[in-house]
Amino acid sequence: MHFQRLRGFPDIVGEEAPLFAKAEAVAREVFPLFGFREIRTPLLEEKGLFTHALGTQTDVVQKEMYEFEDRSKTRVVLRPEGTAGVVRAYIENHFQKNEGLSKFFYLGPMFRSERPQAGRLRQFHQVGVETLGSSSPCADAETIQALVAFLDRMGVDGYEIRLNHLGTFEERGHLRTALKEYFHSHLGDLCEDCQNRVEKNVFRVLDCKRPACRKIIEKSPPIAGYLSPESKDVFKKVEDALSACGIGYRVDPYMVRGLDYYTQTVFEVSHPKLGAQDALAAGGRYDHLIESLGGMPAGAVGFAAGVERLLMSLPSGSEEISGASFFVATLGEEALKAGFGLLWKLRREGVKAVMDFEAKSLKSQLRAADKEKSRYVVILGENELKRESLVLKDMQNGAQEEISLDKAVECLKGKAK
Ligand code: HAM
Repeated sequence: MHFQRLRGFPDIVGEEAPLFAKAEAVAREVFPLFGFREIRTPLLEEKGLFTHALGTQTDVVQKEMYEFEDRSKTRVVLRPEGTAGVVRAYIENHFQKNEGLSKFFYLGPMFRSERPQAGRLRQFHQVGVETLGSSSPCADAETIQALVAFLDRMGVDGYEIRLNHLGTFEERGHLRTALKEYFHSHLGDLCEDCQNRVEKNVFRVLDCKRPACRKIIEKSPPIAGYLSPESKDVFKKVEDALSACGIGYRVDPYMVRGLDYYTQTVFEVSHPKLGAQDALAAGGRYDHLIESLGGMPAGAVGFAAGVERLLMSLPSGSEEISGASFFVATLGEEALKAGFGLLWKLRREGVKAVMDFEAKSLKSQLRAADKEKSRYVVILGENELKRESLVLKDMQNGAQEEISLDKAVECLKGKAK
């Protein structure tokens, strides 16, 4: 039997694994500084949650969800994103009733049946935050602040934040009508995808990257023309709050998002290293979602960053060297026993130490130590045992010293620091 992984479902292994762990550790370190606490929602949810939250005409719902009927004949979906589940949990666990304002962060796998390519996977990971129960423009700016703090702490640089304002649900409705009218009058000049989008989800047309479509899009009714003075004021307050922190951004008046729940503030972070799939993170306000999922009306805002894309954006050389501090090389049965005992003592002291149980010659063990990227090699042979000592070789400069066995653990522990 010979099995292969499914397309778009990668194994996370090698240099990537510690970087994933780092992203998780940084999330757990940074987000609590902003008052976000961790939430883990299930990977499987009722299909209705997503069709209702994301919109029936969105690409995710129309063609990307992994859905099936479970044994109890419930239509279920592998979560394609994190926001809908967090909102459901906020309502179901009475956080809205008991706390009002709740701030969560999450990390974990998401699933979308997209055509796999660089930076686009079918199982990918998101790190995100959601603030539920706040309508303050400061909450929008705080969300972006948390994202910037996370990216900076990860060591990502050279990214761009693009910001836009979609207006309230009603304002978006008026804009939708105007856009439909405009694009209908240019239907013949749009690409086939956009022609379909005009009726189904006209905002998606604004996302099209094809040069012919872009020309038409750039003359379409601007979103700003449909904003009330109140919405314009909210947008200004978000901008002021970002400027107060010195966070740089660019207003992109045609930016819309692929999910239907957004209202008011939307933003996207892109990185030049990502190529065609250049969105590293994205988010915005979704002031109608809590109510539409059965809660009391309340504002909410959040973002999610794609971990795989985040790792692609890191400067080269960010891989952490995970080599053991000590490689214990032994020669002969007695030395193997003594070396195995030393290995145990070092590990119990919190020192990273490894050994090659199969290796025969010293040469092959030194080769293995090199592969392991160990800083030091402990050499234990019959002669050393007779002298009740070991030889410590520094792999960085080749220096060797002899250390008595009774002082070995203490001495090696000191060097491991
Ligand atoms: P989204 O834009 O669909 O938003 O996804 C957020 C991020 O997830 C993207 O910017 C990208 O980095 C990553 N991503 C999405 N699809 C894939 C894929 N197929 N392969 C690799 N990475 C991918 C959301 O999911 C919203 N829930 C964000 C949000 C939170 N809005 C408010 N709160």
